[in-house]
Amino acid sequence: MRIDIVTLFPSMVEPVLAESMIGRARKAGLVDIRVVNLRDYATGRHRITDDYQFGGGGGMVLKPEPLFAAVEALRTPAAHVVLMDPRGPRFTQAVAAALAQREHLILLAGRYEGVDERVSEMADETVSIGDYVLTGGELPALVVTDAVTRLRPGVLGAEGAAERESFASGLLEPPQYTRPEEFDGRRVPAVLLSGDHARIARWRRVQALWRTWRARPDLLGGAELDAADRRILERFERGETADDVEPAATEREGHGRDSTR
Ligand code: ADE
Repeated sequence: MRIDIVTLFPSMVEPVLAESMIGRARKAGLVDIRVVNLRDYATGRHRITDDYQFGGGGGMVLKPEPLFAAVEALRTPAAHVVLMDPRGPRFTQAVAAALAQREHLILLAGRYEGVDERVSEMADETVSIGDYVLTGGELPALVVTDAVTRLRPGVLGAEGAAERESFASGLLEPPQYTRPEEFDGRRVPAVLLSGDHARIARWRRVQALWRTWRARPDLLGGAELDAADRRILERFERGETADDVEPAATEREGHGRDSTR
């Protein structure tokens, strides 16, 4: 897969792409990411890329010609052009999964107050990474590149690792712990040390449901839920907590805690 990021600020984008999983994926040849300087496609002595807005109103607008010229130069038969724009449809895991199927993405990072409307007409798709306005499309383009790259085969290592994670089932992830078992008086939930894999799976599922129900109830409508999950959600609705449904304490601890009540 190839991803071209067209930006006026390559140095804002490059270092991020050199690090961690994406840096490794690039070195391994799993993804070909190129950062393209929009100014290289501007003409004239001053290589101007922005201009005043027709109709008045403050703010500079990115001119169409350099963006069209950049896209024409980069285009392949498989190219899919995506404009970063806070007015676009929301970027979600489903959009990332769809983009990850493509062979070639051209991501256009806007700047200043906006981009000439003819550029969004030329783009195949527009995406917003959230309901807030950033100073430009560089961070959004990096967000899209990261979310898409990690879905490509081989990038995360273990086969299908991405699929097991948050949002794949439509629920938020359950809590995770590593050593030490006790840190500053805070203990890892005993269930995770119990070795009882069925119970651990149940506990994780209840925690995922609990977190999603509390923090992101809007996700529950699109989540893959079975009858048992629905019964658990009904218990939350009645005022029970995750710990009521599937206690984190082991049998022995559970009794100990009850006796001190
Ligand atoms: N450019 C500025 N803000 C943005 C956002 N939230 N999403 C995509 N592009 C943007």
